[in-house]
Amino acid sequence: MGFCKDFAWGAATSAYQIEGAAYEDGKGPHIWDVFCCDNGRIACGESGDVACNHYHRFREDVAMMKEMGLKAYRFSLSWARILPDGTGAVNEAGIRFYQELIDALLDAGIEPYITLFHWDYPYALQQRGGWMNPESVEWFGNYARVVAEYFSDRVVNFFTLNEPQCFIGLSYQDGVHAPGVKAPVQDTFLMAHHVLMAHGRAVQMMRKYAKQEIRIGYAPTGSMSYPDSDRPEDIEAARTHLFAIPEQADRWTWNVSFWSDPVLFGTYPEEALERYGHLMPKFTQEEMRLIAQPIDIYGQNIYNGNRIRCGKDGKPEIVPRWQGFPKTALNWPVTPECLYWGPKFLYERYGKPIYITENGLSCHDAVSVDGRVHDPNRIDFLHRYLRCLKQSAEDGVDIRGYFQWSLMDNFEWHSGYAERFGLVFVDYQTQQRIWKDSAYWYRDLIRSNGDMID
Ligand code: NOJ
Repeated sequence: MGFCKDFAWGAATSAYQIEGAAYEDGKGPHIWDVFCCDNGRIACGESGDVACNHYHRFREDVAMMKEMGLKAYRFSLSWARILPDGTGAVNEAGIRFYQELIDALLDAGIEPYITLFHWDYPYALQQRGGWMNPESVEWFGNYARVVAEYFSDRVVNFFTLNEPQCFIGLSYQDGVHAPGVKAPVQDTFLMAHHVLMAHGRAVQMMRKYAKQEIRIGYAPTGSMSYPDSDRPEDIEAARTHLFAIPEQADRWTWNVSFWSDPVLFGTYPEEALERYGHLMPKFTQEEMRLIAQPIDIYGQNIYNGNRIRCGKDGKPEIVPRWQGFPKTALNWPVTPECLYWGPKFLYERYGKPIYITENGLSCHDAVSVDGRVHDPNRIDFLHRYLRCLKQSAEDGVDIRGYFQWSLMDNFEWHSGYAERFGLVFVDYQTQQRIWKDSAYWYRDLIRSNGDMID
């Protein structure tokens, strides 16, 4: 028992956060390139111009992954590196980079998992309205076709979108991520509808143009909910809370069901229609059918959750955290239970094989006097979280893989380089990679297929 025999032990990254080479080899600009030039938007005026310089160091990075024993690697393609204008002509140098990366991974025995879109939206398309433009659905579909044509001969696993909650919520609701706009709430609903249709269109196009049978999924995020006790009413309260729609209109993107019910069921949740129907665009059944193209695997990025109990009024209520509650360097709560209950609730609702497409934490990592990076907090976090995931698998949830965020320290969006999420420490002055203690621990864990923890 425990994790399945061919469990995909992996690590994840995304293009803008590690590649660098932002203006090289014909890559087109994207909204993050532009946003980072806008003084004051990013901590310390940083950008992903160089990041981990992975574009030039990918062979060394793949060798490192091999040594770590990774079975799988989830990375994203930079849309604007492949199609500099978002549509139209293909940039051969960009294609070559990803083909070489994929070949290096396959040679190293590491299964590539490609994310099509991880937030770096082509600037040329943004200038044409971005997700507000109904044509954005076809733009993404066309890009997906190019991805299928060039990469599906050797890659089987694909995720369409990473965390739509964030690239709509943080970008257009809070305005802290590129392009840094606070849009009217109706606009955020319209963009979300186009995003969901774009996902469906990409699935259609990839299936049509794939060179072999591929497996397609989706990688949303969300705070999980877990019960305060094993009492059935607390369990039901946690489930209800997990799939509930926020009451505050300016927080509406922070939920699971608005983004996943349409994809899996072809319907928006009833609660969303009741509460926000008047703000949502008119949509047709045909559009909903497009969104609900069958997918093969369900990815979910899971970092933390809330403890929930059934209140006196029968409604779910959040159990307050006490002062001194365990937290990461980013002040995110440490709540391992979310890796037991999250996958369980998601599997029970959506019925698809589950991948944890991201999980991890930022720590105050530094090189010690002995030249090593000691990160006991990360090891403890991973141990606790993975123990819960293992229990979930043992209790019948079909969990196929786990991607640690992140392979190495990288550009943490508007926090710049201040947050270190990696298993591997990156010295940004020299680009030296130094394995943190957790990287060794993770290597041993993979070797034991998770048996090392109980
Ligand atoms: C979610 C995002 O997908 C990733 O880009 C980010 O770096 C991590 N979580 C950590 O915040």
